Amino acid sequence: MRAPGSQLLAVLLVLLVASAAAYPGKTDKSIEAQLARWVTTKGGKLKGFKVGQECPTCLRGIVATKEFKEGDVIMKVPFTAVMRLKDLGHNGFPAEYARHLLDAMHNDPAHNETWDLFWSVHPGPDDVFTAELYTDEQLAMLQAPELESLLAGQREVTEQVYHGTYPYQDYAPFNETVGADKVPLHVFKWVSALLGSRYFGFYRDGNTETAASHLVPMVDLINHADKPNADRSDDGDFVLVKALETIKKGQEITNDYQPAVIHRPDLSLYIYGFVIMRDQPFMAAIDLPAYTSADPFGQSATVDDLYDDPNGEHATKAEYRRLRGLLEGSPTTEDEDLALLEGGTVADWRHRAILQFRVMRKRALRQALAKLGATLGLTGDEEGLGRDEGMAADEATGETAADEAEEPEREGAAEEANDEL
Ligand SMILES: *[C@@H]1O[C@H](CO)[C@@H](O)[C@H](O)[C@H]1NC(C)=O
Ligand SMILES: *[C@@H]1O[C@H](CO)[C@@H](O)[C@H](O)[C@H]1NC(C)=O
Repeated sequence: MRAPGSQLLAVLLVLLVASAAAYPGKTDKSIEAQLARWVTTKGGKLKGFKVGQECPTCLRGIVATKEFKEGDVIMKVPFTAVMRLKDLGHNGFPAEYARHLLDAMHNDPAHNETWDLFWSVHPGPDDVFTAELYTDEQLAMLQAPELESLLAGQREVTEQVYHGTYPYQDYAPFNETVGADKVPLHVFKWVSALLGSRYFGFYRDGNTETAASHLVPMVDLINHADKPNADRSDDGDFVLVKALETIKKGQEITNDYQPAVIHRPDLSLYIYGFVIMRDQPFMAAIDLPAYTSADPFGQSATVDDLYDDPNGEHATKAEYRRLRGLLEGSPTTEDEDLALLEGGTVADWRHRAILQFRVMRKRALRQALAKLGATLGLTGDEEGLGRDEGMAADEATGETAADEAEEPEREGAAEEANDEL
């Protein structure tokens, strides 16, 4: 039998636990806590988490302060607390969104009143790293001409938008609405980089063609995980973060960022400025057989099974040689890059991200070669076939490498081709 007093105590304890779960705690004076309070005054619901680290060496993110069950709402952020970037009517470059945002910041007196706090929570210029911010030296470190030109192209557009010389602009030039005296080029690039790596697309106002770009407070502090425990959605009024499974107190809350992007080392570096180290990375998009700079994201998929099917269009010796050429053509090896990364001499996190890209790209190529070699049934000797030797053989017989592949349905075509020669 329990005394009434202990029941009361139990009720009080439950109440205490419940109030401790609200974010932010009353004594929390951090800028993130101020932002969370602001989101709450706008009608947001933020409960059961804090901004922090799951472990001392973990990345700063969102950590559960109570247990969530599958389907529980963790964050509910109203669109009135979401910064909608200017609708460009097309998928604009980050610099174009930056141009409009900085225009509002400097010329619309109401803008800062609403958004200054949110803006001040964003990382500084040394904590973001996307196309706009690359130096020539960093571009060269990539050892990947296609990626270099993609990044350099975006950097150039950024400079053109800044100087008001972007040929496709259908808005007043930035140098005439804001100008260099208020915003120097490096700040413009930083703002562009922030927007490019952090905005979320949502369809709004019945527009289901082009997702409008938004910055979402609190939600943008959630880190990526390949197997996330929470997902993100919206119901027209709110952006919602819900638990996908039971999340225990103390566990980090994670989302899956764009899957076809973040899994590829080059696209992840390009869009987010970081690369996740994996035992079995996806291939870089630039190394996929049909990569085209006109549509770098075009064929990126959430699976990497190009070389599994013996009858597949990429199961050819020509493809095998192409991949080998990519791997062997690199100025450094995977082991050398890894040694640099782990040797403790490269401290700059941006250079480390570039090295991580190099290691992941080569690891994926190496594994793709092993897989394709097995699919083609290449023996050790054939795998060792030198590129020059292989090419010379093709030239001598007039066969294309693709014709050599053991693909029954193609043999007829190969014979025809030979007849013609
Ligand atoms: C608005 O804020 C930005 C940066 O937070 C600042 O540079 C700018 O001068 C502010 N604009 C006005 C009109 O005060
Ligand atoms: C803006 O840049 C363009 C192109 O360089 C130039 O023609 C124009 O005079 C500049 N405007 C101002 C206000 O500096």
